[in-house]
Amino acid sequence: MTRPRTAVVVGATNGIGKAISCHLAREGYQVIAVGRGGEGRRDEVLSFLEKCSAESKTAAAAAAAIPTSGDDDPSPPSIPPIGHEFRPCDAFDLSQVKTCASDIVRDRGGGGIDALVMTQGMATVQSFTPTVDGNDMKLTLHYWSRAAFAYCLLPAMRRRSSSICGIMPGGPVIMSVLSGGVHSPYVKYRTDPELRNNYTIVNAANLAGYYTDLFLDRLASTPPNSGINFVHAAPGFVNTNWGTEMPCYIRGPIRILQRFVGKSPSECAGFMVGPILRCGSSTDIGLIMPSSGGVGESGVDANTGAGRNRGVYIMNEDGTSGKLTKGHTPEAMEDVWRTTKDVLGRSGIQLED
Ligand SMILES: NC(=O)c1ccc[n+]([C@@H]2O[C@H](COP(=O)([O-])OP(=O)(O)OC[C@H]3O[C@@H](n4cnc5c(N)ncnc54)[C@H](OP(=O)(O)O)[C@@H]3O)[C@@H](O)[C@H]2O)c1
Repeated sequence: MTRPRTAVVVGATNGIGKAISCHLAREGYQVIAVGRGGEGRRDEVLSFLEKCSAESKTAAAAAAAIPTSGDDDPSPPSIPPIGHEFRPCDAFDLSQVKTCASDIVRDRGGGGIDALVMTQGMATVQSFTPTVDGNDMKLTLHYWSRAAFAYCLLPAMRRRSSSICGIMPGGPVIMSVLSGGVHSPYVKYRTDPELRNNYTIVNAANLAGYYTDLFLDRLASTPPNSGINFVHAAPGFVNTNWGTEMPCYIRGPIRILQRFVGKSPSECAGFMVGPILRCGSSTDIGLIMPSSGGVGESGVDANTGAGRNRGVYIMNEDGTSGKLTKGHTPEAMEDVWRTTKDVLGRSGIQLED
């Protein structure tokens, strides 16, 4: 019996993450859904995922059970349940993120992980609001916790990228669904690296997007990660519960707009899972070519990215390739790495250079 591919989806309890996890389950993936726990959450998430898997199993079984002449048992062959998991984790608390990720790596044993998708988020108009770790809440969901998950799950992703079983021929995928290609650089990354003094909604959005580009690019250009694909995606405008934390005078118009011009979560998920499905069927490692204009490696054109074979891939809402910001420089990458190292280090997550 072959082992299913495994995807960790953070923020799988609602919105885009929930739709992505269903899409992957339908494609035969075992989903490790990560999200806030609570009364009945585990059962709710697992029965939802089993339903998603059953949709594809039913189709596969029906196709496999086309009756031949003389066959008097038309019932489809039974297919074993895929064994999805729900792991409770409050991503505001980086020590919970560390524990959750380390537990997954430990429990996967030699198995590895084929995809990590991070969608945890919130939309607020509040100013810097500290978490238990003293970091801002929104930045924690959109960047610090995502950097922590990506870094802590690397051992399991590397295991998969070096696997000889060819389960993911294009290599595993780490994807942050946030704002790839649609944010600007956060210019105060040196003087106010954690946004403690210049907090605005725009700066918070730019910081999270900009740091994501630079951090994932830094991970991508580190040799042990060369078999892993790093993606920063923008979902576009999607009809989810996004903005629940906003005051009602802002939330009302958002809901009306979402209804009329927003994509459905399922349509969005269809685009977001594209790189994962491509890497699951391609025979080329590094199928996802990095976005142009990046920092580049030696012998590489830093403006066009030509000749570069490792780096973050920016994905637009329709699955096409997007662009890095003009502020994407080697200096910024090192500064953001150091800042991330400081912040995660305060919560016991040690980044190694
Ligand atoms: N929807 C859009 O139009 C849009 C546009 C641009 C960017 N985005 C970005 O895309 C991402 C996903 O958006 P969405 O529309 O799916 O948002 P959503 O419907 O609000 O879902 C957010 C998800 O994050 C989870 N979450 C929130 N706080 C958490 C915490 N402390 N720990 C763990 N999980 C937590 C939520 O869990 P619960 O179920 O427990 O609440 C939920 O599963 C967000 O980063 C958002 O900023 C969305």
